[in-house]
Amino acid sequence: MAHMKNAVFDAPASAPPAAAQPGAVRHLRHLRDLPGPRPWPLVGNTLQVSLHSVHQNLAEWAHAHGPFFRVRLGGSKLLVISDAELIGQLLKERPETFRRPSRMQAIMREMGIHDGVFMAEGETWARQRRMVMASFAPQQVRGYFPSLLKVAHRLRERWQGAAERQAQGEAGIDLQADLMRFTVDAVAGLAFGTEVDTLSSDGDVIQRHLDKIFPAIWRRAHAIFPYWQFVKLPPDRALDDSVKVVNAAIRRFIDEARERLQAPERRAAPPNLLEAMLVAADEPGSGMTDDDVAGNVFTMLLAGEDTTATSLSWMLDLLWRNPSALLRARQEVDRELGPLGAMANWTAEDLGRLDWLEACIHESMRLKPVGPFNVVEALKDTVVGDVAIRKGTPVLLLMRHDTVSDAVFPQADAFLPERWLPERWLPEGAALAPAHAKRVSMPFGGGPRICPGRFLALLEIKLAAAMLLRHFDILGIDTPDGLPPPEHMALTMVPLGLSLRLRERAPA
Ligand code: HEM
Repeated sequence: MAHMKNAVFDAPASAPPAAAQPGAVRHLRHLRDLPGPRPWPLVGNTLQVSLHSVHQNLAEWAHAHGPFFRVRLGGSKLLVISDAELIGQLLKERPETFRRPSRMQAIMREMGIHDGVFMAEGETWARQRRMVMASFAPQQVRGYFPSLLKVAHRLRERWQGAAERQAQGEAGIDLQADLMRFTVDAVAGLAFGTEVDTLSSDGDVIQRHLDKIFPAIWRRAHAIFPYWQFVKLPPDRALDDSVKVVNAAIRRFIDEARERLQAPERRAAPPNLLEAMLVAADEPGSGMTDDDVAGNVFTMLLAGEDTTATSLSWMLDLLWRNPSALLRARQEVDRELGPLGAMANWTAEDLGRLDWLEACIHESMRLKPVGPFNVVEALKDTVVGDVAIRKGTPVLLLMRHDTVSDAVFPQADAFLPERWLPERWLPEGAALAPAHAKRVSMPFGGGPRICPGRFLALLEIKLAAAMLLRHFDILGIDTPDGLPPPEHMALTMVPLGLSLRLRERAPA
């Protein structure tokens, strides 16, 4: 699986990869030597991919051309790799050798979104990352658990109302939209110390505006020509309005947080990320500006909302399609948890006992990672496997390749949560230990820029799923055509059109 990095940069252009013999001089290939889909004049491969299923186009090319191939998309020549071990190595070489794509940063800035830790680079990134990590550490997230329970309870009440209306003939719940309300409320409480109650309201909530931003970044990142710089179409004007609404909400969060920081004891030990950033920004020479603070609030809303809600939607859909796994999850929840009351009576330890549900989360993120690929950009001339690339070359990392290979995960297409349990059942000859499996399946990325929100995300997913199973019968998770939901790529890979029908369970 692994392709070792070679120190020699400039090798003959068309040299084949050398056999890995001790002492042998290995020849390096260059992008132009690699196989890949045949580019068309001027547009390269851009018109051969579909905007919302580009991940599937890339997966097909990886099967046809192997673990290293080249493509030309949107005017850039990219190296595409799919070997999980090599991907893991590259992700570790940030921020020194690779950065996030500069094109994405330019698009977000142009929209009026300041850099946060997701887009920052170098020293700025390192400084912001330390603060974010401190605020999202497991003990910090556990300390916030009672507030998280209140948010889960509000989701329960919202769905109680929906179940009653469904009994009167109303259509199913737009699952993804409701789960996004849950995740916005959750992240705002933890990261900003603000109660944002989108779950109890159907008005013009912030979540509706956040919804527009990921797809817009995606569309613009793949546009052949930046028409919006010359003429704004209705979707561009709607986007501008949404960014304004979110920025206004962020200003409110900041003002409220500054108000709370009037208390000296709060300033001495700020209890959430926003207040910690504001205290840091007030220090002379901290290097933290007001724009950095605003950029990070935006980042947490964007990075924490869609990803977690989407992972939850995929898992619920997979459980619905695998009734024995769903039944086992429900039995586990009934065994370990009493009813979720308004007085926040579950503990983080209670959820820690839900091993099967946790295995279902890992398995669904293996099959349906919200980021089926990641992109990094070389900050200097370097070597990837046996391919020499120039500074500025984007490298596209196919995160869902080895994870759906039978050679690595036997019966790879099947939803088998047991493969993530210590006492797992696996078919004959399958030797992939869960620890190794976690190195291959990287739904949260890897290396120094691995997702800092992963503890919170896992807790939110477990909590919402446990609440659903404990209090409702799932009558159906439907799609408009009755088929499994299409994978719709719009920065994250979203299941389209899921509609949840449910009935409240009778008290035990
Ligand atoms: C299931 C839910 C989630 C998934 C699948 C997910 C996935 C990811 C991935 C793939 C990355 C890129 C990592 C890399 O480049 O190696 C990332 C980065 C990031 N995520 Fe998440 N994420 C989730 C939830 C969250 C939450 C809840 C938050 C915070 C509220 C969050 C905040 C971030 C931030 C700030 C970064 C950038 C880190 C950096 O560049 O240093 N994510 N996430």
